[in-house]
Amino acid sequence: MTLANAPSLHDKTTRAFLRDAIQGLTSARKSLSPKWLYDSAGSALFEEITGLPEYYPTRTEISILRSHAADLAGYVPKGGALVELGSGASIKTRLLLDAGPHIAAYVPVDISAAFLHATADDLRARYPHLAVHPTVGDFVNPIALPAALHDLPKVGFFPGSTIGNLEPLDATALLARARAWPGIETFILGADLVKDPQVLIDAYDDAAGVTARFITNILMRMNTELGADFDVDRFDYIAEWNAEAAQIEMSLMAKVDHHVSLGGQDIPFAKHERIAVSQSRKYTIGSLGNLANAAGWSVQEVVTDAESNFGVAVLKAQSAG
Ligand code: AVJ
Repeated sequence: MTLANAPSLHDKTTRAFLRDAIQGLTSARKSLSPKWLYDSAGSALFEEITGLPEYYPTRTEISILRSHAADLAGYVPKGGALVELGSGASIKTRLLLDAGPHIAAYVPVDISAAFLHATADDLRARYPHLAVHPTVGDFVNPIALPAALHDLPKVGFFPGSTIGNLEPLDATALLARARAWPGIETFILGADLVKDPQVLIDAYDDAAGVTARFITNILMRMNTELGADFDVDRFDYIAEWNAEAAQIEMSLMAKVDHHVSLGGQDIPFAKHERIAVSQSRKYTIGSLGNLANAAGWSVQEVVTDAESNFGVAVLKAQSAG
């Protein structure tokens, strides 16, 4: 298939995907951004991952939010606003909203406009007193918060350990941008914690092979959306623990020498060459403190489960100057 007749290349998101994919796959160390994992098939596969026996983060974070909901919601002053980055279906947020009837406004920020507006309607029905201000945005870029909420005290919320998907400098930059929001006082950050590497590897290379399908789906997505001709059977999924960087690294490894065509480019793969697709950084109380401090925040507390598998950190804005 040529570039001209590939499906929906006039679409802005598809063009960005093509640009990113070509850039990532023609560099010396091949990579793709994890943000392209989440088309509808990928989002459904991630949902399936959250229910796997090996994938502890989602259920552990939910249990922490549930048992500390009143304390966490209490960080939002009466009449204040909760601003969530990458809100999705706002399932975890509902635990805070249920425990915080004093919260006046909620700003879900997400890249999927259709999903965001459907979720906002659902939340308005569930919480009639709550002013819901859905905001389309990508948390890797500055977010334009609703002007109507300018003067309200605000608490940021970024659960899921999605922060761990970002390069360290990008994670710091995200928290530094949030520190500059008008009225911001507190930021509640979900972060997965360093633990036995085998537990981590199992969580990212499950026995049922769902994570392998989730990561491999990015190749199929390039075939359908970008007109590429990846043969998924020529790649193996690999999850490794990089102790120095404290991260799980997910990649696809070519089984044989071969070529792939993408957007008019010929992309050679050597046997055993890898595409780095996603990284999932794990934190310690110390590394969370360093991350927070570098972005103008202080750690007030880190709430964990009994086994310290996952942390929900409460960050307080350091005063400027
Ligand atoms: C959605 C970024 C939190 O890194 O644990 C799960 C994504 N990738 N299994 C994570 C993911 C493979 C997940 N986050």
